[in-house]
Amino acid sequence: MAKTKTVFVCQNCGAESPKWVGKCYACGEWNTYVEEVAITGKTKDKRLTLSLGSEKQKPQTVSSVKVSDIPRIDTRVGELNRVLGGGIVPGSLVLLGGEPGIGKSTLVLQMAMKLTSQKILYISGEESPQQIKLRADRLSDLDGEHCLLVGETSLEQILVHIENENPGFVVIDSIQTMEREAIESAPGSVSQIRECTAAVLKVAKEKNIPVLLIGHINKEGNLAGPKVLEHIVDVVLQFEGDRHYMYRILRSIKNRFGSTSEIGIFEMQSDGLREVSNPSEMLMAHHEEEMSGIAIAATMEGIRPFMIEVQALASTAAYGTPQRSSTGFDLRRLNMLLAVLEKRAGFKLAAKDVFLNIAGGLKVSDPAIDLAVVAAILSSNTDLNVPGDVCLTGEVGLSGEIRPVTRIEQRVSEAEKLGFKSIVVPRYNRGINFEDYNIKVVQASKIEEAFRFLF
Ligand code: TYD
Ligand code: MG
Repeated sequence: MAKTKTVFVCQNCGAESPKWVGKCYACGEWNTYVEEVAITGKTKDKRLTLSLGSEKQKPQTVSSVKVSDIPRIDTRVGELNRVLGGGIVPGSLVLLGGEPGIGKSTLVLQMAMKLTSQKILYISGEESPQQIKLRADRLSDLDGEHCLLVGETSLEQILVHIENENPGFVVIDSIQTMEREAIESAPGSVSQIRECTAAVLKVAKEKNIPVLLIGHINKEGNLAGPKVLEHIVDVVLQFEGDRHYMYRILRSIKNRFGSTSEIGIFEMQSDGLREVSNPSEMLMAHHEEEMSGIAIAATMEGIRPFMIEVQALASTAAYGTPQRSSTGFDLRRLNMLLAVLEKRAGFKLAAKDVFLNIAGGLKVSDPAIDLAVVAAILSSNTDLNVPGDVCLTGEVGLSGEIRPVTRIEQRVSEAEKLGFKSIVVPRYNRGINFEDYNIKVVQASKIEEAFRFLF
């Protein structure tokens, strides 16, 4: 009989130790070690034995490898298809992560209801079939004849269901609730997650069924469970957004079958998630009158242009140390931009509280938003409006120069499409003929030049 042995496993990174330790030697986290039962199989001599003539596969040259186009299943949710790179690949394992209550189950159930071309097996360890049915009724008016529901947490039972029903698509909500009977640790522990995912992967590849796993994230925002989970699966998607705002962003962190630069945008409504295909129009609040402290940035997310409203408030500091606070924009970058304004453009902001907000609860990482941030701060500081029909794009460097940005043509044509009268762009984006656009393009090489145009 195989001997059972226990080891202590770090719940953060999956490192093992024979005895309990307070601080993980591998990832540095405190108090993450939990005792788990290790599976000890037959110990085999693992030494490499070379037996000549037992070659199973012949190495081949790159040019002689034949590729057929990867077939994909259209999920019927356009934004999801976009993030997956055109649909889900049969036999692939997709992991969808996100904070509790962000709408993972809603998104997946909505897809399952729409995907009538496949027999779907929806396995939930979190909700009963009755609860799912109630939600499904709210989300769509389809009868769902093609979608089978089962409330199950035992992996062995799930494999039996897959064998019996032979579905064309499997959903597991969530991987942290699944357990393998052979392993004694609690569901959600590193060994359970690792073993369950590996078993599901095997079935997916053998039967060529796509499987979508829902995963929880921990307080740091990483997928709960060890990194190995992300290595095993083919695609890792992250669903994010502020729960108090209605926008949700679907991002791909890893994709073996497509690009990771695409994002999908949804809006949470009372009858489920609605796809947002014209993000720019949604993300700009429409003001009756012009106000100070607001600037519109022409940014890019992936390969899609976005117009985003930046709001700033600069007011005299009530206490000795001025406060700087930012939502949706990196605080360190805000501090840097304030220092540039102070040193290079001579604005006295050291005694001011500065608050910055990106509209819609979005997080923006495109550096081209810098120029709009700077303009919004100055507009609030001087109480002068940035004209409502002007948008800005450009990265601001440490010496106050406006640095070139990527995909300038797309940003300009999006601004033109949305009816802006002018756009401020970096002068160093050379070689582009802005004459062709029906919008005034103002080229600036320093922030002062941009301000002269704006104020
Ligand atoms: P849910 O999909 O259960 O989140 P997750 O699986 O990521 O934990 O639902 C998230 C929230 O969305 C829930 O608090 C209620 C809200 N919601 C709506 O606003 N409209 C809807 O149609 C549905 C189904 C949920
Ligand atoms: Mg859920």
